[in-house]
Amino acid sequence: MKRIGVLTSGGDGPGLNPCIRAVTRTAISRGFEVLGIKRGYVGLIDNDVMPLDARSVGGIIGKGGTFLGTARSAEFMTVRGQREALRHLNCNSVDGLVVIGGNGSLTGAQVLYEQGFPVVGVPATIDNDVGGTDMAIGVDTALNTILDAIDKIKDTASSHQRAFLIEVMGRDSGYLALMGGVAGGAELILVPEVETPLETVAQSLVNAYIRGKAHCIVVVAEGYKPGTRAVVNYLKEREEELGFDVRVTVLGHVQRGGAPSAFDRLLATRLGAAAVMELEQGHAGVLVGLVGNEIKTTPLAEALSGSARFDMNLYQLSKIMEK
Ligand code: F6P
Repeated sequence: MKRIGVLTSGGDGPGLNPCIRAVTRTAISRGFEVLGIKRGYVGLIDNDVMPLDARSVGGIIGKGGTFLGTARSAEFMTVRGQREALRHLNCNSVDGLVVIGGNGSLTGAQVLYEQGFPVVGVPATIDNDVGGTDMAIGVDTALNTILDAIDKIKDTASSHQRAFLIEVMGRDSGYLALMGGVAGGAELILVPEVETPLETVAQSLVNAYIRGKAHCIVVVAEGYKPGTRAVVNYLKEREEELGFDVRVTVLGHVQRGGAPSAFDRLLATRLGAAAVMELEQGHAGVLVGLVGNEIKTTPLAEALSGSARFDMNLYQLSKIMEK
């Protein structure tokens, strides 16, 4: 192996830059050249690449986003797109590829691997729904952003005796809502994994009011059905009965930005370095992840088939903490 390619793909999140840095510097230290691929699989199809050296990844460890850029590529899902990608990897004499991203990006990595190209995946998604790792890169920083928002909203909610719905990301996953809700002391957590009827939501507000609470914080995962808007409409129609005025804050993409936390910088550095070592040892088609406090590998196919983590015990605990 002489040249390693690296790309970031899918939704961004804090910690991608330190991971690219770790891949680059580890690879250089083992005598490899490094090729950065811009905008994920889109850049691979367009042959939009740049050589990386130790200096080109200087000063980025604390920066959010990804300096290589990222994208979601519909074209890579086609045979033609995959053929172009493989062609450009070969034309650029890339011998192994590190793909940093979430489930969609890692599915792309598996596709390349099945076509004979050596790829190692690094889990990076604030949703934390990739198998084979306890934590994906970006999750810790996103959670801290959520907590900062919950704490601030709670201040104003208490001053005005209001109920706030705070929507956090998680298209298919309630991970951020559960963790953020428990750590932020929410009165109610709404997630796609647990069915919670609108009447129950309204009753939770009433109960919080009767218990003498000055606020009621409801953390809602983006993927909760029937959705944040439906909850707001339902509650607004009953505001008089609830005791609280109702307001809503959608945190949105603020959760994906910002300087990576200490945890994310360390995780990104460890996983980026491990990915290069795996390629060096000829172990392709795997995901490097954090299991316990150790870096372990899992076959990509297995990591992708694993069900999204949802900690039902913690959810039960949240029900006690809501009181
Ligand atoms: O995949 C991560 C995620 O944060 C989801 O929770 C969210 O639905 C999605 O990205 C939004 O991504 P974008 O707006 O970039 O398409």
